[in-house]
Amino acid sequence: MDVSFIKAPQIQQLLDRAAGMNESGGNPRLKAIMRDLTESVMELIVKHDISESEFWLAVKYLADGAGEFGLIVPGTGIEHFLDLYMDAKDAEDGLSGGTPRTIEGPLYVAGAPLVEGNVNLSTDPDEGGQMLHMNGTVKGPDGEPVGNAIVHVWHANSKGWYSHFDPTGEQTPFNNRRRIKLGPDGRYAFHSNQPSGYSVPPQGATDMLMQALGRHGNRPAHVHFFIEAPGYRTLTTQINFGDDPFAADDFAFGTREGLLPVPIRQGDTASIQFDFQLQRAHNAGEEGFSSRARAEAAPLPEAETV
Ligand SMILES: [Fe+2]
Repeated sequence: MDVSFIKAPQIQQLLDRAAGMNESGGNPRLKAIMRDLTESVMELIVKHDISESEFWLAVKYLADGAGEFGLIVPGTGIEHFLDLYMDAKDAEDGLSGGTPRTIEGPLYVAGAPLVEGNVNLSTDPDEGGQMLHMNGTVKGPDGEPVGNAIVHVWHANSKGWYSHFDPTGEQTPFNNRRRIKLGPDGRYAFHSNQPSGYSVPPQGATDMLMQALGRHGNRPAHVHFFIEAPGYRTLTTQINFGDDPFAADDFAFGTREGLLPVPIRQGDTASIQFDFQLQRAHNAGEEGFSSRARAEAAPLPEAETV
């Protein structure tokens, strides 16, 4: 069977009716997207001659794996594709330069303590024993220091678990998570218990998919950032440790050129000097965050807030 089967009047009428194209109510943009999405699924079915059993297996996989969509999306490369698409649109608009954006991942938690100075991110002890020291400057497009920036930083512990998402229950809220308020010089500095890379949950939906594709579900050690500042575009990025075994083979495609600093290691200490460069905002919307749904936790009562 040829995919031209999809173009038969009977199928096209079915698509129109299913997407509500003949109805006056509803959201026109959603109707157009749903019609194309449904047609794409139909084309896939015909192109690969997907059987009824295979189709319902896929539906069951999506239903059972719903809790891991935040990992399946980066694992399939779609989250990185969104970055590449935004980069390409920026280039069309003459917007380029600065620190590359890269995937946010599903593990940010809003409400972390807002702190100043040379910050300790780690509330909890960590048997890993290695310390990470990171510092640098947040600059603008002309190299000017960006004043009044807030650096949101979050990373895993030495076992690869994030606070608020740690199945061992061992971490206190906001361990290895802070918002750092910078001064007029744009300088930031923090230290913390060094994170490890991690894998997707064994036997979970993402792991099953990776295995079926002959891939793995590992990420190199990394540190996530949002950087926001008045007059500048909010940057979503992360640095990945350039000396990690998975630095060049990140299952989530979060590693990018320019975001792979190699830590200087001395004894139990790893040091990274890394400057961020923001683009100027051209409208107020660019100073904010995308409206992606994110976890939120109550601020700590004893938080050292400023
Ligand atoms: Fe992460």
